[in-house]
Amino acid sequence: MSGSILRLESATTDVVIKTHPFAEIIYWGPHIQNFAAQDVVMFDRPLPNSGLDVDAPLTLMAEISYGLFGSPGIEGHRQGLDGSPLFTTTSAVHSDQKINIISEDQQAGLRLNSEIQLDNSGVLRVCHGLTNLHADPWQVDRFAVTLPVAGRAKEVMAFHGRWIHEFQPHRLTLEHNSFVLENRRGRTSHEHFPALITGSASFSEMQGEVWGVHLGWSGNHRLRAEVKTDGRRYLQAEALYLPGEMALAQGETLWTPYLYASYSGHGLNGMSQQFHRYLREQIIHFPGDKPRPVHLNTWEGIYFNHDPHDIMRMADEAAALGVERFIIDDGWFKGRNDDWAALGDWYVDEKKYPDGLMPVIQHIKSLGMEFGIWVELEMINPDSDLYRAHPEWVLSLPGYPPLTGRHQYVLNLNIPQVFNYLLERMSWLLGEHPVDYIKWDMNRVLVQPGHNGKAAADAQTRQFYRLLDILIDRFPHVEFEACSSGGGRIDYEILKRSHRFWASDNNDALERNTIQRGMSYFFPPEVMGAHIGSDCCHATGRQHTISFRGLTALFGHMGLELNPLVANEQEREGYRKYSALYKQWRGLIHHGVYWRVDMADNSTLVHGVVSKDQHQALFMVSQLAMPDYSFTAPLNIPGLDPNARYQISLLDHANIQLIGKGGHTMHKLPEWLITPQTASGEWLQKAGITLPILDPESAILIGLQRL
Ligand code: GLA
Repeated sequence: MSGSILRLESATTDVVIKTHPFAEIIYWGPHIQNFAAQDVVMFDRPLPNSGLDVDAPLTLMAEISYGLFGSPGIEGHRQGLDGSPLFTTTSAVHSDQKINIISEDQQAGLRLNSEIQLDNSGVLRVCHGLTNLHADPWQVDRFAVTLPVAGRAKEVMAFHGRWIHEFQPHRLTLEHNSFVLENRRGRTSHEHFPALITGSASFSEMQGEVWGVHLGWSGNHRLRAEVKTDGRRYLQAEALYLPGEMALAQGETLWTPYLYASYSGHGLNGMSQQFHRYLREQIIHFPGDKPRPVHLNTWEGIYFNHDPHDIMRMADEAAALGVERFIIDDGWFKGRNDDWAALGDWYVDEKKYPDGLMPVIQHIKSLGMEFGIWVELEMINPDSDLYRAHPEWVLSLPGYPPLTGRHQYVLNLNIPQVFNYLLERMSWLLGEHPVDYIKWDMNRVLVQPGHNGKAAADAQTRQFYRLLDILIDRFPHVEFEACSSGGGRIDYEILKRSHRFWASDNNDALERNTIQRGMSYFFPPEVMGAHIGSDCCHATGRQHTISFRGLTALFGHMGLELNPLVANEQEREGYRKYSALYKQWRGLIHHGVYWRVDMADNSTLVHGVVSKDQHQALFMVSQLAMPDYSFTAPLNIPGLDPNARYQISLLDHANIQLIGKGGHTMHKLPEWLITPQTASGEWLQKAGITLPILDPESAILIGLQRL
């Protein structure tokens, strides 16, 4: 048996695979220092009475045909035939950190090609390819990646959400059956972020074992956490196919999206830190070591009211505030005066811009800023020249009137003329204007997506990737932001093709604290677009101090989402201050190790970043609501060098004042806020520091410098 045992190892995580006669992941968990292949025999299972007379392995494909009776990793048929595949290994190759296994079912005429790779970061990446070997097409109903997790991983964490309310975590205990998350919206979706985390009882940010997975795919998906009746547990993830959508012709291969998996023995922080490191080293392509520039995006500042003179004045003011990249959002193209018309007509609106875009772009550039512009290429308004000329270009099914969403239809990217039209228009925009940045939006879900009468959601996602790939190839200097009504298309596969996400259309600092924290489980701060909105939030009507807004945007890729010309001087002073603070700290925030801190009171949210060399750290304490207790619980600061001493300082706060000077929450501050103090990293981590008593919807920023 040991001859067919292969192991992938990293500093934190090991994966052990039995390859023959069929492939089975036997172990995914903490690194085993003293590994011996023969020890795997200790995992040999008994045969329970009243069951099959053979062992039912949880194979790579979780085939039901081995007697597993769980959710299989493959379902499909050849007009009713060949519908119960059972694979046996034909070859297994182990090279470095990767195992490739080929297996076949000759009876059903199917070949499976499995790729399992463990990165140094501890992140495991798995995908499978399925090839049809016979003449008739094989209809794929389901094709998934399955990973076993330990029996003690009883708690599940997942995310729900909606527009302006993305990445909301929820928890449950799974004792029996499955927890399933299904997305049929045709994009990654606000509602069902494709990730599942499972872990030991009460796992938290700092404690417990967790097994987290993310499916890198920007379309329909299904994720499942299942506990079998025999107690074995697994996670499963797949692209979800609509009826009849996926059939393989002879020789054709279908690949699953990549499943990214991170095991941590040190709570959720360990899982996230591994994912962040993996993204930084393997997925995010950012031009050189360039710092991420401060943005000004025009959307909430002027909406569709574009006047080049005003925009140039906005740009003057933006540059004076420290903005480094100016982005013209929706409203610049022909006839786009509201969200009812013009999507598809990617020509400059000459009524608004009689001299074209160039004078504005040149002005922005002359101020030393980069230039960005908004597009939403996959869409078409019924009220557009394009639709009037080509109503047949809509993604729909014959015989059914398509539904609009935000007054728009979706273009069928599978039609070559549509694809080429979009490519041509983008090549005009990017080829004839010095554009540095594209905000690529996608503002509706897919309903009855069809091509030639067949479901085509999967094909639409692939064509979207292809379009973006060609543009990136043609215009390699251009950065792309993925936006989809805020955070509707955020995943690792689109991240390969973009540099930043617009995390949410909600710039309310209170809401953003939760949204950004949710997103941080899988994404590092530098790809998280985070903007300071105007003093009265457009999404919620709430008002927050500039300090709460500024600090909240600091832990991302900062920008402004407002018109600085209509802001008062006090507000503008704030924009200037937080742009400067961001520039001062972005090196640390975008390259350091990110931590979320467990706090005794759920109304206090703490996160921070420690530099890789542990010399510097920044922690933000947000008081979301009225504190439960009269003292805010002490803050245990993670990630520091226990043997070093640190100078601790309060770098920013909303308005901490004492009685007599206008304060109302305290009449004495904690000592470290009165006279400068130092403490050991060990003390700061194990005992912690006391915190001032904060008002609801306010935040402070704490800095630590190694002595
Ligand atoms: C979406 C985006 C916004 C903005 C508008 C423009 O809602 O999320 O940021 O670009 O579209 O129409």
